Amino acid sequence: MRFITLLSVFACVVISFPLFDIVPEWSVNTFSLFRGNGCQDRLLKLGPDEYRLASEKEKLALKKANKRFIDMTEQIPIEVAVEQGLIVKPTHSFLQKLFFIGSKQIKTLEKPIPVYNYPKKTKYNSEVKSLYDLINIDGVYENLSNFTSFYTRYYKTESGAESATWLYDQISELIASFKDISIKKVHHKGWNQFSIIVSIPGEVKDKVVVAAHQDSANLILPNLMRAPGADDDGSGTVTTLESLRLILEAYGKGTYKPYNTLEFHWYSAEEGGLLGSIDVFSRYYKANEVVVGMLQQDMTGYTQGSIDAGVEPHFGLIEDYTSIELNNFLKLIIKTYNSIPYHSSECGYACSDHASALENGYPSSFLIESEMKYSNKYIHSVMDTIDRIDFDHVKEHVKLTVAFAYELSLAKKLH
Ligand code: BES
Ligand code: ZN
Repeated sequence: MRFITLLSVFACVVISFPLFDIVPEWSVNTFSLFRGNGCQDRLLKLGPDEYRLASEKEKLALKKANKRFIDMTEQIPIEVAVEQGLIVKPTHSFLQKLFFIGSKQIKTLEKPIPVYNYPKKTKYNSEVKSLYDLINIDGVYENLSNFTSFYTRYYKTESGAESATWLYDQISELIASFKDISIKKVHHKGWNQFSIIVSIPGEVKDKVVVAAHQDSANLILPNLMRAPGADDDGSGTVTTLESLRLILEAYGKGTYKPYNTLEFHWYSAEEGGLLGSIDVFSRYYKANEVVVGMLQQDMTGYTQGSIDAGVEPHFGLIEDYTSIELNNFLKLIIKTYNSIPYHSSECGYACSDHASALENGYPSSFLIESEMKYSNKYIHSVMDTIDRIDFDHVKEHVKLTVAFAYELSLAKKLH
């Protein structure tokens, strides 16, 4: 092997070492001289028509520089949804069946996103509202307190894998007495923190999915620094957990049995570029699974930004790169079941796991704690702590999740 090749292989291996997530941005650029194909093995989508290959270090540098991207190494672009007018912000067409970036072959989505007949009226008002008396905010607090006590939930770390196991154990305890409800660890290639899927089988296999991401990240030194991730997205994780607990109360009493299969998802590695959810939804796509609606909740607990601005507490309904029809259904749910309104907002790009559903042809929505401009500015740092969480607000997200799950899982004739 020639010296220069040897050197570049050595440099590639060295800067790929996990601890080297700590390398500063300058060294990423300096080392780029040595980067071989083996390093730049991630395909990032930075905008509607902007793709590039990148190494792990470049990915981190992009995140730190606040550049938004999806790591779509394994997945399918969003443009088909734009093409169909199902998501807002149409940009110019970028539809190709197959194309190449360097030596990498990219496939685009061939399956169109279906339009479902979501209910125009709610049907289960008293059943759903009776569950609200059972919301246990002290329990939600305790769960978040435990979850944020892991040093970090960064997906590549040992504590990140341990936090997934802790979450898995909590859920397993909740569902232990229900024989027909399943829990599954979804293991991903390349890191140890698994995603978790709970499934309550319905009469049909069509799925309704409510979801959050379980990982956290301190963007300065993700492998080394503490990342409590109380709001991002510990809050969404415990919101989803409490919602499952309430649905199980109704299920246990025999007052509720879903028609569509109801699933609860907790994704790994969202902070790595939606990696866990992309893996989950591309498996669903390959297995021809039907998902009639996916609701992502990422950050459900911070209201101080709104309060400081003299704005009423509200939900932020993300209206770009989400399904218009599912958003309309969500608006109906909020109006019927919540004591706070929604404000329309935009993320600007695929900022959370709802994008992975959409990329695989499944309608999805994203509800966040407030309009983006009032949302938590302490995320991705040691300061994303539980004392900044407004649990009354988390409660509104729980109410919303239970109502969404209950109503949509019982909706028939969606096709
Ligand atoms: N919770 C954030 C998304 C977010 C950021 C919401 C800022 C509100 C304000 C999410 O966990 C995140 O960090 N997303 C990444 C994108 C992802 C593809 C790496 C982001 O926004 O940079
Ligand atoms: Zn984040």
